[in-house]
Amino acid sequence: MANLARRLIWGAFVVVSVALFHSNAGAQVLPSQGEGAHLGAQTCAGSTCHGAVQPWPNSSVLQNEAVTWANHDKHSKAYAVLASERGKRIADNLGVADPQKAGLCLDCHADNVPEQRRSKNFKISEGVTCEACHGGAERWLGVHVSGIGGHKDNLAAGMYPTEQPVARAKLCLSCHYGNSDKFVTHRIMGAGHPRLSFELDTYTASQPAHFRVDADYIQRKGRTNGVKTWAIGQAVAVQETLTALTDKERNKDGIFPELVFFDCHACHHPMSNLRWQPRETVGLGPGVPRLNDGNLIMLRLVAGVIDPALGERIESQTLQLHQASADGHAATLAAANTLKETLQGMISKVSSHDFMGDEMAKILDVLITNGLQGDYADYIGAEQATYAIATIVAAMQSANKLDGEALKAVNDGLEAAYKAVANDESYRPQEYMDALRVVQVAVRSR
Ligand code: HEC
Ligand code: HEC
Ligand code: HEC
Ligand code: HEC
Repeated sequence: MANLARRLIWGAFVVVSVALFHSNAGAQVLPSQGEGAHLGAQTCAGSTCHGAVQPWPNSSVLQNEAVTWANHDKHSKAYAVLASERGKRIADNLGVADPQKAGLCLDCHADNVPEQRRSKNFKISEGVTCEACHGGAERWLGVHVSGIGGHKDNLAAGMYPTEQPVARAKLCLSCHYGNSDKFVTHRIMGAGHPRLSFELDTYTASQPAHFRVDADYIQRKGRTNGVKTWAIGQAVAVQETLTALTDKERNKDGIFPELVFFDCHACHHPMSNLRWQPRETVGLGPGVPRLNDGNLIMLRLVAGVIDPALGERIESQTLQLHQASADGHAATLAAANTLKETLQGMISKVSSHDFMGDEMAKILDVLITNGLQGDYADYIGAEQATYAIATIVAAMQSANKLDGEALKAVNDGLEAAYKAVANDESYRPQEYMDALRVVQVAVRSR
């Protein structure tokens, strides 16, 4: 939950979340897979480029991105943490001699492009650098520094479209969830790797954002709101999950299913904290591990608002998936494929929806109602719900849909919700539901 706390601190820098203009977003080649050499962070960080100490008053971009990244953004430390005590422990337990030399780790903890795509100033030790997200600069640096043309020309020359939520979600999730090239398995978790958690809008704010969405930004890149970014993030996360779950390279570990697809806390929480309660949308009895459905329950909610029939189909097929998971591998695979089919076109459906006006309040209301019906009995559900509430409340606030006493009361409820999810191992669903009730009363009192 560190990210939720950081969001509060850094959220003020991001006025509204960012834009979606170009419709071909999903087809992008990721920076790690693209062409063009990577020139290293120092190439971007000149004091007259992106390495200013303070933001420039008259520039369209802040210009101090490199300082933000170096001083406040964990990506700049991602290589160094491999040599930390924890990093070494993980490596030792896996029989990896040096994690700072192992592709297994570097693929997510650095800009690990092949040798032939590293220019002379490239340093692997710089971690997750500008080019790991914005793409190798060799091809676009010329256009970019010439000052002729604009963002479109950069994109045409190969810069990665981080402003487009679908493309951004795929980029972030490639490391924060994994893809067919790299993946944190339960064996890696078991060696000591931290659990991965992600929500696109929250993580964009808490990185922290090294950009400011102002009039100039909107003119260059278009506008959207945090709720839409959140919804798209959920759609992409579910797609990535179902792709991995149906990928035979990733869905099994020996005779066992790959345990990272399950709710970690179904197996890992102290036996003194008895918290199991039935969930209607899961339908499994006590003592059975449950698939991690944190993103699925959020996406079901989004679908329910934009296309109620689809929402119901997702709900019943998710229930079937949970049931199938208790019947073995073949049944799980079949149910996951059915759901995957149903969700074809979901990302573009969500992308072409606005989520403006009263819809934000509606989503918030359904989110809370589902929780009060017991949907967040598992920690992962509560964690995603908290990211969602924070995002929606921020978006409603910036659209002037929530202020004064109501806003204050909502924030009290939100704070109680943060507290209830602050420690995953001592999570108590009842405490979380109490917090939801506070938010519900406050939102309905507007
Ligand atoms: C699929 C991508 C991926 C792979 C592969 C991966 N990691 Fe990570 N790792 C992450 C992400 C993302 C985080 C940050 C999680 C968070 O805080 O939300 C992380 C966090 C960590 C941390 C905690 C850092 C901190 O600040 O406390 C350590 C240590 C670590 N990884 C070591 C390793 C080692 C060693 C390997 C190789 C055996 C490895 N990782 C492989 C993505 C990956
Ligand atoms: C973990 C991914 C990531 C890393 C690392 C990263 N960025 Fe970004 N950057 C983003 C995202 C996301 C945005 C916001 C969307 C957008 O406008 O493209 C962004 C936006 C920007 C912008 C556009 C601001 C605007 O107003 O249009 C600049 C400039 C920028 N980054 C420079 C850098 C530089 C320089 C570095 C390295 C020092 C860097 N970024 C590292 C993800 C990243
Ligand atoms: C190349 C892999 C990679 C990509 C791409 C990437 N990240 Fe990360 N991210 C990491 C790793 C590794 C860490 C952990 C670093 C550490 O703890 O030192 C991390 C850490 C973070 C953290 C801090 C988490 C915490 O627990 O405090 C945030 C926030 C974050 N990333 C957001 C993003 C966002 C938003 C994007 C997409 C715009 C993104 N990341 C793209 C690898 C990546
Ligand atoms: C089906 C049950 C199950 C699920 C689900 C599960 N694990 Fe495990 N986990 C185990 C077992 C069994 C071990 C081995 C315990 C031991 O060696 O003492 C283990 C070991 C671990 C360890 C090492 C503990 C130690 O004492 O060193 C970590 C860390 C871990 N798991 C993290 C996770 C994470 C993160 C998730 C979710 C992504 C997860 N597990 C999901 C059953 C599970």
